[in-house]
Amino acid sequence: LHSDERAADDGIPVADLTDAGLTHTPIQQSMDLARMHGPVFKRKFGERETLFLSSLDLVTEVADESRFSKGVSVVLENVREFAGDGLFTAYNDEPNWAKAHEVLMPAFALGSMRTYHPAMLKVARRVMAAWDRRVADGTPVQVAEDMTRMTLDTIGLAGFGFDFESFSRGDSSHPFVEAMVRCLEWSMTKFSRDPDADHSAADAAFQADADYLASVVDEVIAARTASGESGDDDLLGLMLGARGQEDGAAADGPTLDLANIRNQVITFLIAGHETTSGALSFTLYHLLKDPLALRMVQREADELWGDQADPDPSFEDIGRLPFTRQVLNEALRLWPTAAAFTRQAHEDTLLGGRYPVKAGELVTVLTPMLHRDPAWGDNPELFDPSRFSPEAEAARSPHAYKPFGTGERACIGRQFALHEATMLLALLAHRYRLIDHGDYRLRIKETLTLKPDGFTLTLAARTPAD
Ligand code: HEM
Repeated sequence: LHSDERAADDGIPVADLTDAGLTHTPIQQSMDLARMHGPVFKRKFGERETLFLSSLDLVTEVADESRFSKGVSVVLENVREFAGDGLFTAYNDEPNWAKAHEVLMPAFALGSMRTYHPAMLKVARRVMAAWDRRVADGTPVQVAEDMTRMTLDTIGLAGFGFDFESFSRGDSSHPFVEAMVRCLEWSMTKFSRDPDADHSAADAAFQADADYLASVVDEVIAARTASGESGDDDLLGLMLGARGQEDGAAADGPTLDLANIRNQVITFLIAGHETTSGALSFTLYHLLKDPLALRMVQREADELWGDQADPDPSFEDIGRLPFTRQVLNEALRLWPTAAAFTRQAHEDTLLGGRYPVKAGELVTVLTPMLHRDPAWGDNPELFDPSRFSPEAEAARSPHAYKPFGTGERACIGRQFALHEATMLLALLAHRYRLIDHGDYRLRIKETLTLKPDGFTLTLAARTPAD
């Protein structure tokens, strides 16, 4: 890492990365900078400077909705090229944000997870069928790839009644995933490009991918319209139900136009699966490396399902897996898979009484380093699910843990992700022994979100003695 440090007039260290070239690991690079310079620093890239924060006291300030709101970062500006004014990338004052938020909020309340539970279970069974085959032939599973298949199928089925059938494609992914990953990579690296080079080929390839994503979404919408079913209570049903009347007649609530519905579907297909897949993969990594935690997750699942070969978890069962949830929370502490979020100042202000921020200026919270703040104790790198016991949580500031962002623009899909992931983890731990056949060392791949890279494990069926 090349970093020419200089302190700016305001005393904030500046890492000039202009000559460091394009990076495929901007989050890990920023974590290194925070370790070098402390929890407040600027990164300079060409003409642009970004202020990064990661201490609990300063994050508490920028989480104050009377002083700051969500900011659309340079990277999210690039994501807007293919997700438009979808919920994730909309500006705060764009009318479509408030409309879509109102239409979709009921679909994400905790009680609504009951509606999605059967689809989530159906896909969890696909994972187990695929993993049973690995047990039989002794070959390793590619964890992040399978978790991505699982979360894509889940959001497709639960949200839109559309089946990506990701487990029937051999070792390849659905082309939607491949195009989407390339689009995300394009948006992540575009801002650090050499301004003098010719990027027309990369931009044309991006446009082709973005067009393909839109065509898949049109297919999803057409399949629903052709089926004649309203699917009232899934995401697509709610959005189509709130579609503006062609004849201009007034509708009861807010209405969404078709272009916006398309942006929302792309947004949900992306936001709804990449992050959850990474969260599951990191959790499995930590369970593999921490036999005691794995044992406790297994015990919790065994208490619910005994030695049933094919348990049938009820919706309520998922609320009865508190330790499994703690393990997931702890994995998301160390590796929050959407690892940064941006805030925008309403007015000129001073952070911590000394760092000036101008009205409209963007500041970026580096979540993995917030999650290693001294508030987490002396050994923040240590994986320790007891950090999320009810007593420990009650004793800690709510601003110390932000894997789902903050405030009005925090993650709408949090309960969805937690229900889906908790159920799958418990089912997998109930069914398999996890074997670290290659002594895996964690490497992290960044495609805007974080994932363990090249992570494989082998499996054995659990016996009553295990
Ligand atoms: C927003 C993380 C799962 C849909 C966010 C934000 C974060 C986040 C950090 C705030 C971004 C910002 O402030 O710029 C995560 C993580 C997940 C997850 C870590 C899994 C472990 C999901 C799922 C869905 C979803 C399953 C949909 C089914 C969204 C949407 C927004 C959002 C639509 C934008 C909300 C708005 O601005 O109104 N997520 N997310 N996410 N997330 Fe998630």
